[in-house]
Amino acid sequence: MRIICKDLSFSYEPKKKNTAYALENVSLTIEEGEFFGIIGHTGSGKSTFIQHLNALVPLQSGELLVGEFDLDTKNKQYKKNLKALRSKVGMVFQYPEYQLFAESVFEDVAFGLKNFYPELSLKQIEQKVKYAIELVGLNYYQIKDKSPFDLSGGQKRRVAIAGVLVTDPEILVMDEPVAGLDPVGKKELMDLLHSFKKGNKTVIIVSHDMDEVCENCSRIAIMQGGKVVKVGKPSEVFTELPDENLELPVVARLKNALKTKGVEIDCKLESDDFIEEIVKKYKERNGR
Ligand SMILES: Nc1ncnc2c1ncn2[C@@H]1O[C@H](COP(=O)(O)OP(=O)(O)O)[C@@H](O)[C@H]1O
Ligand SMILES: [Mg+2]
Repeated sequence: MRIICKDLSFSYEPKKKNTAYALENVSLTIEEGEFFGIIGHTGSGKSTFIQHLNALVPLQSGELLVGEFDLDTKNKQYKKNLKALRSKVGMVFQYPEYQLFAESVFEDVAFGLKNFYPELSLKQIEQKVKYAIELVGLNYYQIKDKSPFDLSGGQKRRVAIAGVLVTDPEILVMDEPVAGLDPVGKKELMDLLHSFKKGNKTVIIVSHDMDEVCENCSRIAIMQGGKVVKVGKPSEVFTELPDENLELPVVARLKNALKTKGVEIDCKLESDDFIEEIVKKYKERNGR
């Protein structure tokens, strides 16, 4: 599902005179199968933008198409389509583990599914819940009857994600997916997102960690004051930053530092790629 957004503007107090805009003329196309990153400071409009994608925030002005869904509230099909849209665009909020509530992991993961597809039989529900729990790397039989509150932080987050993946969304949107996780937990979660993406699904993450988006995203949008100020591949976006308060990713800083010493490294801004290019240069210099 491709996302096309044109001139999207949004205010939380639209009736107020001289109202502040949380989003201002945001235009962005996100292709199916992208791993897309949205970065920017607190208050730059990231969360407001992503909440538009499954109509948690209603469109005020501009256009937004998500796959076959037109999110114009004046569209006749709008209300009728909401459920289908939300089953296709899975949204995981920041610290989703705080939103677990059911008595068992099974019930928690099944909740959204039952809501979206009330016609499913218990057997079908079990199948899908099992699939989702295994997809996030947990053991279904060991965990299904546990209380979500007895799990570790990382497990809780996985359960929360399973509760979104259970409807088999085409697009997964995550607000600060790895916030508060330790380095191993971060790596595991990113691996999970990459494996989800394999079936040509779209992943959109919001982050303020430059290294994280640089390593994982195929394209990035930088937001500032409700606007998208830059969009492109990491190597295009992280040449210089529009906002002096944002810091370049480590690989971009190393690349720039080497350039000042007369060493040009031409690479994607992923650490593996960077290292490979350095090794290549080194071997060339040493005639090997
Ligand atoms: N529920 C809300 N009510 C009023 N203003 C809000 C609300 N949520 C966000 N805002 C304001 O909208 C702007 C964009 O916020 P947000 O989208 O949350 O940015 P980010 O996710 O980048 O931190 C900020 O100025 C913020 O204060
Ligand atoms: Mg936010």
